[in-house]
Amino acid sequence: MANLWVKKSISGLQNEAAEEQGSLKRTLGARSLVALGIGAIIGAGLFSITGGAAANNAGPAVTISFVIAAVACAFAGLCYAEFASMIPVAGSAYTYSYATLGEFIAWIIGWDLVLEYAVGAATVSISWSRYFVKFLGYYDIHLPPGMTMSPFDTAKLADGTIVHGMINFPAIFIVVLMSCLLIKGTRESAAVNNFIVGLKVSVVLIFIILGWGFINSDNYTPYIPANTGDFGNFGWSGIVRAAGIIFFAYIGFDAVSTAAQEAKNPKRDMPIGILVSLAICTILYLLFAHVMTGVANYKSFQGADGIAPVAVAIDHMGKAGADGVIVPSYPWLNKGIIIAILAGYSSVIMVMLMGQSRVFFSMSKDGLLPKVFSKVHPKFGTPSKSNLLFMLFVSLFAAFVPARVVGEMTSIGTLLAFVLVCIGVIVLRKTQPDLPRAFKTPFVPLVPILGILSCLAMMLALPGDTWLRLIIWLIIGFAIYFGYSIKHSKLNNPKK
Ligand code: ALA
Repeated sequence: MANLWVKKSISGLQNEAAEEQGSLKRTLGARSLVALGIGAIIGAGLFSITGGAAANNAGPAVTISFVIAAVACAFAGLCYAEFASMIPVAGSAYTYSYATLGEFIAWIIGWDLVLEYAVGAATVSISWSRYFVKFLGYYDIHLPPGMTMSPFDTAKLADGTIVHGMINFPAIFIVVLMSCLLIKGTRESAAVNNFIVGLKVSVVLIFIILGWGFINSDNYTPYIPANTGDFGNFGWSGIVRAAGIIFFAYIGFDAVSTAAQEAKNPKRDMPIGILVSLAICTILYLLFAHVMTGVANYKSFQGADGIAPVAVAIDHMGKAGADGVIVPSYPWLNKGIIIAILAGYSSVIMVMLMGQSRVFFSMSKDGLLPKVFSKVHPKFGTPSKSNLLFMLFVSLFAAFVPARVVGEMTSIGTLLAFVLVCIGVIVLRKTQPDLPRAFKTPFVPLVPILGILSCLAMMLALPGDTWLRLIIWLIIGFAIYFGYSIKHSKLNNPKK
């Protein structure tokens, strides 16, 4: 009789981590890991979602929302850091749960992480496509609209006719490009990622520095606009709702832990990668949000989605002419921002795709998924077949599915993983208190408990249909577990 709660031993996992044969190459140092984190973190959340959250939910107090989400992520990040320094193998939250909560929960987490990584990558690639089309438009290049949208999307042409999308080619293009880079090698991918991270951090810093001089303190009054009477529309409930929305902006720091098996010195560098990337992004986010809501009134971001909120802020960086209309001082910045957004989204997609293949790599090594997911390319040292399969899966998703609610799916999946990692830290401290831990989460069980509560609160703030989709996804996962994984699990079938 198979045992759903069978656990992996920590020493076995540590041996696995030490095994080099047929395994992933150890090429990443602390700086690359921090860059990997920033590469996954700064993206649509900052450039697109912040403006909407300020306009509809929090006003200038969206900065407080950023602090709330950052604190919740810091609790979870501290728990991730303890595990990543202790169990430096590729599977992240999946592997940690296998060692603490047993195979069944580990399966749930591994399956759930597809929502964070693969669905997350598809979501960002759909946004990438939108900006790419916009960018080409600056140079009078116009792709046929049917080729740039899913069949569920429509666009209005200049003559007023409505056209339906057929397939989103730019989204497929970016997924294929990033997958090819990943197949080529982790070191090459990390080099490209380091470059992109430099570019995207520079643009964020330029926005903050240039914008600072144009802050109009009137825009901060009232700092917390009065609640309209509806929960989530301004006031303190609006700040909390906005925290749940902009949580998306922080997703990605945990992707660092999926690369543990490729880190040169994971015990020391994993906590640095996770916590430093989170800290840097938090500071950048707070300053960015402060400048954005300072140069333009939060109401001016109303209805401005995509690149618009940032463009609105840049258009307010200037002096009013005789007619009272502001003449922007830095019109070139809008083009610069769009290039950084395109590059920045590419790195988010790349790290997400990498995280996904690494989680399935571990699940496959454990027998819970077919062997194809853990085959390492003899020359490149990367799980190339897995990368190819995910390239197909994510491309299909990106080509034919609209962006709409996938962001919320990504958030709920990620939050569930965070909750289980926090529980895992408490469990392992109780069951194996003497294990050496290169990094220790402070104030256990307080910090993990606060992590669980804050993540649960954000999950509850998400709409009911997102919960329904999560449940359906998990039911599909149960079917695969009981139909395949439990019969092939190495721990449950030691003789196989
Ligand atoms: N944090 C990533 C983004 O904002 C997912 O795009």
